Amino acid sequence: MSTQVATQVAIVGAGPAGLLLSHLLHREGIRSVVIESRTREEIEATIRAGVLEQGTVDLLVQSGVGERLKREGFEHEGIYLRFGGRTHRIALKELTGRAITVYAQHEVIKDLVAARLADGGEIHFGVKDAALYDLDTDTPKVRYDHGKEISCDFVAGCDGFHGVSRPSIPSRHRHEFARTYPFGWFGILVEAPPSTDELIYAHHERGFALVSTRSPQIQRLYFQCDPEDQVRNWPDARIWEELHARLENGEGWKLAEGRIFQKGVIAMRSFVVEPLRHGRLFLAGDAAHIVPPTGAKGLNLAVNDVRLLASAFSSYFKSGKEDALHAYSPEALRRVWRAEYFSWWMTSMLHRFRDDTPFQHRVQLAELQYVVSSRAKALTLAENYVG
Ligand code: PHB
Repeated sequence: MSTQVATQVAIVGAGPAGLLLSHLLHREGIRSVVIESRTREEIEATIRAGVLEQGTVDLLVQSGVGERLKREGFEHEGIYLRFGGRTHRIALKELTGRAITVYAQHEVIKDLVAARLADGGEIHFGVKDAALYDLDTDTPKVRYDHGKEISCDFVAGCDGFHGVSRPSIPSRHRHEFARTYPFGWFGILVEAPPSTDELIYAHHERGFALVSTRSPQIQRLYFQCDPEDQVRNWPDARIWEELHARLENGEGWKLAEGRIFQKGVIAMRSFVVEPLRHGRLFLAGDAAHIVPPTGAKGLNLAVNDVRLLASAFSSYFKSGKEDALHAYSPEALRRVWRAEYFSWWMTSMLHRFRDDTPFQHRVQLAELQYVVSSRAKALTLAENYVG
């Protein structure tokens, strides 16, 4: 059966970028329709990162979707860097005046879905074979489910790295910049009390490890692994052995163990496409750029993209002027590249690379030592980390 709807902005993808965009547009009186290939249950259960910058928290709170976040999120005023047998604190708040909040991305998704549905928003889950048409005309279209069509003024491509939006831009108009790292992260969720009051980023001869949290009962832990590694190669006992070895450095700190109830391997890559616009298609979030998770920037970049994009659409629909639309790509990319730089730097400083020589290992330690002993260098880390 064929059905047609018309809207102002068709949004492909119900991740944080797509949902927040739809929410912000609604607040500006702009209509949108969101389509998503996964089910609501799937998107609300996808385990991703969990660090929100203050600016991200402020936007969610000011736009009316931050109530649970304020109640259940954990504000951290610093992070720890652990290397060479010692632990050092980077006092984020003291250095920058800003803190970070630990609150899982899928919780943000749940809050946004609930808000959109309460406001009568249209989200179609589980759609098949979405495709974009007529992007270089004034009436672009999104077709899906063999016969359904959304015709609109603009398409927002918020469908992640593997989505259909980015490849809809002809390759001659697309410049892609990429770096794949020779390692991944093995991530677990554990039923255990917190082992630390703030996140621990650990540099170790056996590779990087990270201690994060989700709640007083649930902890999130990661360690660097082979990018091709499989969950089945890592029985619980082997995971704990590796985490203890990388994190317990002789200072007397102990990692609390518990039941592991989720395991996964995460690829590490840096990626940017330029520009973020083709005709009436605008890319936002992971569809446009990827950062390795070491800098905790992914979700925050997506939020910043749609903050700019919502304001550009709003200015266009109010005035008919296209200036803000033209400014979207260069403006968003400035911040994207800054985060690309920071995430690459943190990743390079903290991980073991395959061809590392003892010399490079010592240089990493020297850089870490510099970060924790120079206020200027600590401030560089802190101001990039808090956003
Ligand atoms: C997380 O809690 O999932 C997390 C925290 C910090 C990072 C990456 C992921 O840098």
